[in-house]
Amino acid sequence: MAIEQQVVIVTGAGGGMGQAILKYLLEQGNIVVGLDLSVTSLASLYSDALQIYNVNVLDEDKVNDVFRNVYDKYGRIDGLVNALGIAQAATPIEDVSIDEWNRLMDVNVKSLFITTKAVVPYMKVRKKGAIVTIASISAVRPRPGLQAYIASKGAAESFSRGLAIELAPHQIRVNTIHPGPSDTQMLSQFTAAGANVEQTKQDVFVQSVPLGRLVDPTDIAGAVGYLLSDAASMVTGTTLHVDGGRGL
Ligand SMILES: NC(=O)c1ccc[n+]([C@@H]2O[C@H](COP(=O)([O-])OP(=O)(O)OC[C@H]3O[C@@H](n4cnc5c(N)ncnc54)[C@H](O)[C@@H]3O)[C@@H](O)[C@H]2O)c1
Repeated sequence: MAIEQQVVIVTGAGGGMGQAILKYLLEQGNIVVGLDLSVTSLASLYSDALQIYNVNVLDEDKVNDVFRNVYDKYGRIDGLVNALGIAQAATPIEDVSIDEWNRLMDVNVKSLFITTKAVVPYMKVRKKGAIVTIASISAVRPRPGLQAYIASKGAAESFSRGLAIELAPHQIRVNTIHPGPSDTQMLSQFTAAGANVEQTKQDVFVQSVPLGRLVDPTDIAGAVGYLLSDAASMVTGTTLHVDGGRGL
């Protein structure tokens, strides 16, 4: 779907979905700003329209600096895509430490607070903006042993809905995408300790998708493109399942 040129910030830009989202948005002629802890995977995407920042999105001061730089340079920030995240290895709750719980909540939820708080003033000034957060179908169709991850993704969806109603008077739309299992390096990290990763992918993840294959990161990129575009100008507070029917 073609979208008008926008200035879009993407977190988790170096990840499997992040890279696909960057590529898609650049191909559509947008100016894209990518943030990640690890940016080496992005070398091949080099373009004048792409800026990469090697930052920890939990560092609020650095995030604020980056967003201010982007606004000063382009005079606008049209879109924010929260595509970062970490996985949890399937673990019974009694073996999950409080540190692991806190780590998942920090990266998967607190980061959303930091980036959204940073971007909203720039969107309010122009009375226009779109925020898309990648959560997970596991928030509504859980698997055993992923309780902290699932809770973080449920929080991500609720946070988006809360912001959708808060920000609607400012013409800022806020939506969530729930991907099904997708073939990025994250997928193998959901496997229980000691289990065979490739076999789990086939026997558990592919089997769980009614359409019969893993979600490709480009499937997510297309959905992000739609939610950022004017074609979605009356879409806010919703959750788009891009999961091959996994949530059914
Ligand atoms: N892969 C799947 O099966 C799947 C399914 C459902 C939802 N998701 C969600 O989709 C999103 C993207 O996942 P992915 O599959 O591309 O995973 P990925 O592991 O390939 O990418 C995640 C990226 O986030 C970055 N990141 C993590 N913590 C960060 C921090 N503090 N600051 C900056 N960057 C940080 C990592 O460096 C990594 O590049 C995540 O929110 C994930 O939970 C993934």
